[in-house]
Amino acid sequence: MNMHTLNPSASVSTPSRWWQTLALVLSALVLTACERPSPESVQSGYRGTGMVQVYNARLLEVKTEKNQPPVAIPSPGSDGPKAAQAYKNVKILGHLSVGEFNRLMVSMSNWVAPQEGCAYCHALPNFEDDSKYTKVVARRMIEMTQHINADWQPHVAQTGVTCYTCHRGEPVPNAIWFKSNPQPYGSNFMGDKAGQNTPSPVVNLSSLPNDPFTPFLLDDQKIRVNGPTPLPSGNRQSIKQAEWTYGLMTHMSTALGVNCTYCHNTQSFQNWTNSPPQRVTAWHGIRMARDLNLNYMESLTEAFPAHRKGPTGDVPKLNCATCHQGAYKPLNGAPMAKDFPELLKPAVTPTKVAAK
Ligand code: HEC
Ligand code: HEC
Ligand code: HEC
Ligand code: HEC
Repeated sequence: MNMHTLNPSASVSTPSRWWQTLALVLSALVLTACERPSPESVQSGYRGTGMVQVYNARLLEVKTEKNQPPVAIPSPGSDGPKAAQAYKNVKILGHLSVGEFNRLMVSMSNWVAPQEGCAYCHALPNFEDDSKYTKVVARRMIEMTQHINADWQPHVAQTGVTCYTCHRGEPVPNAIWFKSNPQPYGSNFMGDKAGQNTPSPVVNLSSLPNDPFTPFLLDDQKIRVNGPTPLPSGNRQSIKQAEWTYGLMTHMSTALGVNCTYCHNTQSFQNWTNSPPQRVTAWHGIRMARDLNLNYMESLTEAFPAHRKGPTGDVPKLNCATCHQGAYKPLNGAPMAKDFPELLKPAVTPTKVAAK
C-alpha cells in the first residue's frame, strides 16, 4: 500500500505543516507564560460546591519570603532595677527590668526604623524628651499592640501581633488608607462619585468605590447586599451600600490572598451556617480594625504632623492588609508575640494622648 494514498496531505502540505507547528509552539509558549507553573487548587468545602483556593507556586514563594518573621533577641530576664527607677519619663513600660526595656527598644528600632535607629523616635541625646511626634505615636502604638493581643483574641488568637506584623522594617506600614477626597462628577448636579470608576488597587483595580473603609472600618454601616425581605418596604439596602460591601469584600480577599470561597459558600453569601469558620474570624477582624482606627489611630490626630495626613486632614488608618499583607495569617501564622510578654497585655491603665 502506498503511504500517499493513505495520507494524501503528507507530502504536499509540508510548508503549511511547518507554519502550523510553529504557531502551535508559539501559542503554547504565550499561554503558559501567563501562569507558570500552572496554578494549583486546594479544595476547602464539600465536593461540587466549587469551594477551592487557587495558588500559583511562584507567587506563593514571593509571599512566603515577604512573610518571614525576624529572629527575637534573647530576653535578659526580669532581674535587676526597673526602668521606672532608672529612667525619667517612662509612662507604660516602667515595670520592665532595664535589660528587658532596652531589648524592647532595640527590637522596636529593628521592626519600625532600622535605618534611623533610636534617633527616629528620640531627640538624642535626651532619651526622656517627648518632642518628636514619632515617640508620642510609638507610645500609643505600644498600648494598641497590647490591646490587640489582650482583647482581640477571637481574631488574633495566641499568634498575636508585634510592631513587625504591620511595620516590616518601615516607619509607615505598607498598607494604610485615608478618607477619599469627595470628587464631584463633571458637574456638581450629579453629586459625589464616591470614588467610583477611578480604579484603585484597594479594590483590585475594579470600578467599585475606592474607599470602602470609611463606612465599615471607621463608621458602623451595615455590610449588606440583600434586604431581609423580598418586598421593597422591608428592603432598606441601597445600591451604594451594596457597592461598598463588594469593595470591602474585594479588599478582604486580596489582603488575605484568598478567594471569596475562603469565607463563603456561594450558594448564599448571606447564610452563616453554610459559611466556613474563617468567616467568623473575619467578622471579628472587621470589628477589631474599626476599634483600632477609632480608638487608637484617630486619637493621634493632634500628634501626627500635617505631611503624614490625608487629603482631608485625617490620620493614616489601618485595614486587613496592614497586618495580613497577602497571607491568610500574617507572617504565615508565626507566633512571634509570645517572645515579648510585655506586648501581650497592658501593665497600667492606658494613657490619654497629650496634644502636641
Ligand atoms: C519607635 C520609637 C522608638 C525607638 C526607635 C526607640 N525608642 Fe526608646 N522610647 C520610645 C518610647 C515610646 C519611650 C517611652 C516609653 C514609656 O513611656 O514607657 C522610650 C523611652 C526610652 C528610654 C527612657 C528615657 C527616659 O529617661 O525616660 C530610653 C533610655 C530609650 N527609650 C532608649 C532607646 C534606645 C537606646 C533606642 C535605640 C536602640 C531606642 N530607645 C529606640 C520609643 C522608641
Ligand atoms: C496593627 C498595625 C500596627 C501595629 C501592630 C503597630 N503599628 Fe505603628 N503604625 C501603624 C499605622 C497604620 C501607622 C500610621 C502610618 C504613618 O505614620 O503614616 C503607624 C505609625 C507608627 C509610627 C509613626 C511613623 C511615622 O513616621 O509617621 C511609629 C513610630 C510607630 N507606628 C511605631 C510602632 C511601634 C513601636 C509599634 C509596636 C509597639 C507599632 N507601631 C505597632 C500600624 C501599626
Ligand atoms: C476573609 C473572609 C471573607 C472573604 C474572603 C469574603 N467575605 Fe464576604 N463577608 C465576610 C463577612 C465576615 C461578612 C459579614 C460582614 C458583617 O456582617 O459584618 C461578609 C458579607 C458578605 C456579603 C453580604 C451578605 C449580606 O448579608 O447581605 C456579601 C454579598 C459578600 N460578603 C460577598 C463576598 C464576595 C463577592 C467575596 C469575594 C470577592 C467575599 N465576600 C469575600 C467575609 C468574607
Ligand atoms: C492587627 C493585625 C490584624 C488585622 C488588622 C487583621 N488581622 Fe486577620 N489575623 C491576624 C492574626 C494575627 C491572625 C492569626 C490568628 C491565628 O493564628 O489563628 C489572623 C487571622 C485571620 C483569619 C483566619 C485565617 C485562618 O485560616 O484561620 C481571617 C479569616 C482573617 N484574619 C481576616 C481578617 C480580615 C477580613 C481583616 C480586616 C477586616 C483582618 N483579618 C484584619 C491579624 C490581623
